[in-house]
Amino acid sequence: MFTQDKFLWGVASAAYQVEGGYQADNKGCSNWDVYTNDYQVTKAFIGKQDTGNVAINFYDRTQYLQDIALMRQLGVNAYRFSISWSRIIPNGTGQVNSQGVAYYNQLADDLLSNEIEPVITNFHWDLPYKLQEKGGWANSDSVQWYAEYANILFTNYGDRVKKFITFNEPFINLFFIEPLAHNAIENKANPYAISNETYGKQAEAVHHLLLASATAIQNYHQLKLGGTIGITLSFTPTIPLDTNKAEDVQAAMIFDGLHNRWFLDAMYKGKYPDDVVKLHQKYNPTFQVSAEDMQLIAANKPDFIGVNFYAPAYVKADDSAPYNAEWFSTNPDEIKMFNGPVRPEYLYKLLMWIKNEYDNPVIYITENGAGFGELDEQLDKDLVKDPLRADYIKRHIDTALQAKQDGVDLRGYMLWSFCDNFEWLFGYDKRFGIVYVDFESQRRTPKQSFYEYQQIILNLVE
Ligand code: BGC
Repeated sequence: MFTQDKFLWGVASAAYQVEGGYQADNKGCSNWDVYTNDYQVTKAFIGKQDTGNVAINFYDRTQYLQDIALMRQLGVNAYRFSISWSRIIPNGTGQVNSQGVAYYNQLADDLLSNEIEPVITNFHWDLPYKLQEKGGWANSDSVQWYAEYANILFTNYGDRVKKFITFNEPFINLFFIEPLAHNAIENKANPYAISNETYGKQAEAVHHLLLASATAIQNYHQLKLGGTIGITLSFTPTIPLDTNKAEDVQAAMIFDGLHNRWFLDAMYKGKYPDDVVKLHQKYNPTFQVSAEDMQLIAANKPDFIGVNFYAPAYVKADDSAPYNAEWFSTNPDEIKMFNGPVRPEYLYKLLMWIKNEYDNPVIYITENGAGFGELDEQLDKDLVKDPLRADYIKRHIDTALQAKQDGVDLRGYMLWSFCDNFEWLFGYDKRFGIVYVDFESQRRTPKQSFYEYQQIILNLVE
């Protein structure tokens, strides 16, 4: 069995991005099934329709057993995956689908029998569509919907699964992906343009989500299943594009509040940062949070923080960007990675900052990875050469281990992602895997970065 002090070397994925089987075994319909099939949202971003209907076929046990065999070859001892809520409760609340429950039971058992620890993310962005129709996270009932769902996961899997993650990246989910998907659905001329009012409203949704997380953590602790539960946040250290420009410095501060301080302050300091609250209230005067809510969040802290780090962001003041801070398209580097500039030193700074500012919490890096598009990924017979990704991984692991040495309570590193998969708004156009997937044949080919990571693990595991 797994001991808490064993460093986790893992790979990560999410249900909608890998499973496929979108109507198999009584699965209900999710928001993403509708976004991709009915509204074809990827068209607005990559000019063609892609869906997760088949994805990389991970719902198929024959397929995933081969993937687990590859994970063994890689040498990882952990696999982070998410659960599709609409497989477990097709309508979001009420009737539980035993076939959906059985799928993840089997997957957990198959991982364990291969000495790979399952790390479960309860929610990684795919919401049952019936709940979306009721307003999704904007509806305050979502706290109870989620608590009920999470309890089903704890009671069915908690005997063997010892690490749960309540949510994946609330900020990116609700302040980026969802607004962009809705812009595409509404056929907006510029699908990237998000309004201040949308941000203001989404703040309420985020608040419900944090209450849902705290409630689930409270319930999990009461069940005394002997494991731990955390939350995964996206972190984006901010750099003013022009450090001599007061407006850019201010924009970087705004974005730092939203992206890095907002959730940690709530959980570890019992309040939202003043600058963040002020901003939300400017565009949504009804945004108020009660003392009891903040008390619930602070009293039910996660046992660990899942850190997702890809890159810092150069931020500039821009009146057309929500809250005047443009971060997404601003990358002055020559080598362009999908998610920003390659700056491993910012992972070190980030980890040290969390340690010093938030009382040295237990940390797992739950995602770190890269995609460079055509610059990388040179297919050469049976090897995919991706030297940029291989180098990215090595440098980020080095710096994370340095932070560990310098006192950060780092317990694991999970790479994003094991296989190429469905990259949300960008469909199959953006590859993040260390295993190449031919999406037509489902053939897997380990990339150069796979062998790099394998070597790192081999050298470091005692
Ligand atoms: C998300 C993943 C996504 C990855 C790469 C993260 O924000 O959690 O689902 O695939 O970034 O963009």
